[in-house]
Amino acid sequence: MNRFDNQTVLVTGGTGGQGSSHVRAFHAEGANVVIGDIDAQRGAALADELGPRAHFTRLDVTDENSWSAAVLVAERVFGALNVLVNNAGVQNPPAPIEKTDQATWSRILDINLTGTFLGIKVAAPALRRAAGGAIVNIASTMGLGGTAHYAPYVASKWAVRGLTRTAALELGRDHIRVNTIHPGVISTSFIHEPAAGTTAAIGDFYSPEPFAIPRLGEPIDVTRLLLFLTSSEASFITGSEYVIDGGLLLGPVLQPETA
Ligand SMILES: NC(=O)c1ccc[n+]([C@@H]2O[C@H](COP(=O)([O-])OP(=O)(O)OC[C@H]3O[C@@H](n4cnc5c(N)ncnc54)[C@H](O)[C@@H]3O)[C@@H](O)[C@H]2O)c1
Repeated sequence: MNRFDNQTVLVTGGTGGQGSSHVRAFHAEGANVVIGDIDAQRGAALADELGPRAHFTRLDVTDENSWSAAVLVAERVFGALNVLVNNAGVQNPPAPIEKTDQATWSRILDINLTGTFLGIKVAAPALRRAAGGAIVNIASTMGLGGTAHYAPYVASKWAVRGLTRTAALELGRDHIRVNTIHPGVISTSFIHEPAAGTTAAIGDFYSPEPFAIPRLGEPIDVTRLLLFLTSSEASFITGSEYVIDGGLLLGPVLQPETA
């Protein structure tokens, strides 16, 4: 008996660095997986690799119709939807607020925040039809403080926290739990590739050496927490926020010179 036998899980951004790790792990633990992403090539390849309990659907999280189609596909192909992971997200090209144009601001908010709002809105009735379930919204440790040059991203991830808490209140009586995960710096293309053109990537601003666990996070670190939060083992946890950052937010380890 696996933890997610007879459960159907929809992961947005399901072909990405963290999303594909989540998809693989849910699948390995018995779930039917719906891979939602705008990248159809990677999505089809991942679904093929995993086989019959995996299905790719092209999902643009900024589009409510696209969401309705994805949830319908989950119910048609697998019979129900039990878990939603709002994982799709993008970062802005680094720039101070004064040099951030409104189009960039709106695009980041659309994907990271409106995408999560629409996911909860459209998936909630399906989760109710399944007699309950779980939603996890992937925010960021950047949603717990400020980060210069990342205002749209930081604002979007802060806002996801309020959305999570409100959804937890609205959906708790329907046996739908809603929680947030705040990953620290996780080793995916998200932090390694320049966000736009020749501009710097997040990884260029960050070195893990001074921190309690001096390495980058791996997608599987986040996946393990996600699987716990969406499993029945977490049945009393809702509206909560989980930081998984290797101690990054604790600040640097002070190492005074020894005599
Ligand atoms: N990597 C990190 O250090 C880090 C840290 C904290 C939080 N996060 C968050 O983790 C989540 C996953 O990021 P990742 O590290 O796997 O990055 P990633 O770039 O590998 O994956 C992001 C995925 O989102 C998809 N996507 C983008 N726009 C979309 C849209 N409109 N609709 C549907 N899918 C869309 C992309 O195609 C991609 O597959 C994001 O929400 C990100 O903000 C990442």
